[in-house]
Amino acid sequence: MCGIIGYTGKQEVKEILLDALEALEYRGYDSAGIAVSDSAKRDVEIFKCAGRVSDLRKVCAQEEIHAKCGIGHTRWATHGGVSDANAHPHKVGRVTVVHNGIIENYKELAAEYHLSGQLQSETDSEVAAALLNALYESDPKEAVYKAVARLEGTFALVILFEDVPETIFSIRNVSPIVATQSEEGCMLASDVTALCRFTNRYFVVPEYCLLELHADSLRMQDMEGNVVEPEYMEVNWGLNSSDKGGYPFYMEKEIMEQPKAIQNTVENHIQNGMPDFTEEGIPDSLFQECERVCVVACGTAMHAGLIGQALIKSILNMHIDVELASEYMYTDPVVDEKTLVIAISQSGETIDTLEALKYARRQGARSLAIINVKGSSIARESEFVLYTDAGPEMAVASTKAYTTQLALIYLIVAKMAQVRGVWNEAQVKEYIAELLRVPAAIEQVLERRREIHLIAKNILEAKDLFMIGRGLDYSLLLEGSLKLKEVSYIHSEAYASGELKHGPIALITNHTPVVAVVTQSRLMQKEISNIKEVQSRGARVILFIKEALLQELKQEIEIFTLPDLKDEFMVIPASVALQLMAYYVSSDKGFDVDKPRNLAKVVTVE
Ligand code: AGP
Repeated sequence: MCGIIGYTGKQEVKEILLDALEALEYRGYDSAGIAVSDSAKRDVEIFKCAGRVSDLRKVCAQEEIHAKCGIGHTRWATHGGVSDANAHPHKVGRVTVVHNGIIENYKELAAEYHLSGQLQSETDSEVAAALLNALYESDPKEAVYKAVARLEGTFALVILFEDVPETIFSIRNVSPIVATQSEEGCMLASDVTALCRFTNRYFVVPEYCLLELHADSLRMQDMEGNVVEPEYMEVNWGLNSSDKGGYPFYMEKEIMEQPKAIQNTVENHIQNGMPDFTEEGIPDSLFQECERVCVVACGTAMHAGLIGQALIKSILNMHIDVELASEYMYTDPVVDEKTLVIAISQSGETIDTLEALKYARRQGARSLAIINVKGSSIARESEFVLYTDAGPEMAVASTKAYTTQLALIYLIVAKMAQVRGVWNEAQVKEYIAELLRVPAAIEQVLERRREIHLIAKNILEAKDLFMIGRGLDYSLLLEGSLKLKEVSYIHSEAYASGELKHGPIALITNHTPVVAVVTQSRLMQKEISNIKEVQSRGARVILFIKEALLQELKQEIEIFTLPDLKDEFMVIPASVALQLMAYYVSSDKGFDVDKPRNLAKVVTVE
């Protein structure tokens, strides 16, 4: 959470910082600010405000800002409400700081160093700035080392010292910082999306390494002062891949990108029609030797895990748990060296997932991560990594990350079936061939998006909405329902249809919208009965059904037919249809689809 940027180089810094903050805004959008280091004045000036980067642009437009070095921040509030004063950067004495993370012992530090009188905000971050200032005599590095030794919690700190012009210092614990050097100068950021307009080469700053950026050089050293060489990696996202590409919102663009993203993800992991993870160095033994599987993930990524659970149980007849990462280590999980832990995360930075993975590894579990962002913390923590080829996902509501995670899950299931001797080669190939048909099926849903738009128009006024289905349909509806609530603010609940009679059906009244998904042949008759139950209590049913299952259903049901695939693959086209429905509800209501209230794309606080 919170986006951080820093630049020092040949170019005027104002627009660089503002553009980068816009690219990072999905990490938090409560307030924004920049600080620039003016070498002529030997001064650091701050411009900040509550609100969006667009508000900060207005603040900056009124000022003459000429500098070639600066830092910026876009905030997701933790300590202290949303206000101008709580916006970053924070300046105390000669030190200016932007911070991502939580300083847990900020009250103790403020008391011990008598900092309260210098503080103007309610933030833990300003205490870090005041502490650095208190410890700063003449050597910035010494001040950083001393301060960091006292900080408890997570932090990515980016620091300007007023009397060290055009130089940026940074240090981190857990919260991410990546950096790069190009012809134009040196840059750092919370994540690579802010850098990829300049370069596709970057490195992750290791924890507790002090990074020092100058206009034409950068240097890293560890806490003992030893030089640490950056380990550069490349991102294969195009320089413009984080643009909206002509769409009004990233969410729409990202929904539309799914056929290609899935195709890339699958094609990069098959060889002669068989799943292939040799490039990632994943040995077959990882899948052969485990006795149980455990998925740790949050939100949408956890929902992808639920689909994996259903497939692994039914195809491999194996024990698999799907755990909310935030609960995992507090619920005495059964985990040992025979457990394969699969951590799923788009960002690779979700702190709960990271901590759950670390916990499982401490108990001896083997690990595999499914990640979209190269070199992210979870990717580095996991023994093995499979990357989704989704490209940057900018909308807070996850769409293409989910479906590409599913694509990798299907491949993992096929690989496990192969190496555990559940399927012969022909069966594996048949399964992969069906997976390769998924992008075309998505295309068919996307081509008919106007029909889904019409369905969306009929639920704009709903206060409450229910989604019902069985088996895989129930699992995908949990995700469909999350999507709708996060972007449309409609209260939506997904229920296993058989569970309705055990309580929730009391909430169905005349005209309550109920979205039903029917894609599983063996469950169809029961699903239809459940639909009739809610209909007879007045519900207005919207049905998404696999075309082959469409039978003599009542005309009064609004129906969207989904292109036919084998049942286990229907999850993806059905999910895309629900994503579109959520998107249209949100955009028709005039909401900022990409930045729903209270949310942030990357959740780096527990
Ligand atoms: C998805 O729409 C969400 N906004 C959210 O649930 C997200 O999936 C979750 O925070 C996990 O993020 P990650 O995949 O980056 O770990």
